[in-house]
Amino acid sequence: MFNRTRRLRGSQVMRDLVKNIDFTLDNLIYPLFIEEGENIKVEIPSMKGQYRISIDRLEEELKELKELGIKSLLLFGIPQKKDPVGSEAYNDKGIVQEAIRFIKNRFPEFLVVTDVCLCEYTSHGHCGVLKGEELLNDETLKLLQKVALSHVKAGADMVAPSDMMDGRIKAIRDILDENGYVNLPIMAYSVKYASAYYGPFRDAADSAPAFGDRKTYQMDFRNSKDYLIEVENDILEGADIIMVKPGMPYLDVVKGVADSISNPVAIYNVSGEYSMVKAAAENGWIDEKKIVMENMYAMRRAGADIIITYHAKDIAKWLKRGAN
Ligand code: PBG
Ligand code: ZN
Repeated sequence: MFNRTRRLRGSQVMRDLVKNIDFTLDNLIYPLFIEEGENIKVEIPSMKGQYRISIDRLEEELKELKELGIKSLLLFGIPQKKDPVGSEAYNDKGIVQEAIRFIKNRFPEFLVVTDVCLCEYTSHGHCGVLKGEELLNDETLKLLQKVALSHVKAGADMVAPSDMMDGRIKAIRDILDENGYVNLPIMAYSVKYASAYYGPFRDAADSAPAFGDRKTYQMDFRNSKDYLIEVENDILEGADIIMVKPGMPYLDVVKGVADSISNPVAIYNVSGEYSMVKAAAENGWIDEKKIVMENMYAMRRAGADIIITYHAKDIAKWLKRGAN
């Protein structure tokens, strides 16, 4: 006696009938790198198909994204000036603030999410303020509050703190509430590992730390127990959406998070994951479309409600042509 599980795989209609994981563009957030300056649209060498774009070239990009059916954006800024305290990150006329205004003015239908951190804006490339080589937690919180508030004042629909300082969710929730933005949601990069998978992003955003690494604030991937503490803290402090990052190598963590909370869970399919797929596809070693869609379903199956991915445009094009 044995069980014939193949019975339910006999035809496409049968397989479609019994499948229980869905995937649509509604679940995706597309990251955009906005660079200060004029007439810039430069491909990022380590992230084929992704660009640094200046605001005067943003219109054409947004039109394309809208036509493709992409609905949510995650903005990163690349400023011209950097300093030790990342002032451009909380300049009301800074690159991200201006980009938000531009998008909300021309294409108000996009859900605009902003990454709240200092590393793209500090001369030393760390995610906060330093004393010698030590990253100061509570001093950094004050600056993160300013960053988040300036994004929201410019029109951001949601802020996403990625710095990994302790207490940042409470600090940001407090400043938003004090200023009347009680209904503005926070998507917390709650479970963020110190990962080599961010390598291409740091080229893209010019944000590699000038010395040392981020291991005193981002999490240690050799630990399988500490992620729930991060999640609990962030929910208690007021996070609305909980993110796990990186994505694909951390599906056990995504599953653990999704099984233990009722908040929506986001996963960040980060730059290194994207670049590996692109490089293998370019060499003809894998079928890009099939691999990407399989990865998307894998992340959904692990429990991700939301997927932040650089593949979003490609996926939108494939779905238009009726893939999967
Ligand atoms: C900023 C930030 C990083 C990423 C998102 N926000 C880089 C880092 O922490 O070093 C990584 C995104 C990616 O690799 O795609 N703190
Ligand atoms: Zn950072």
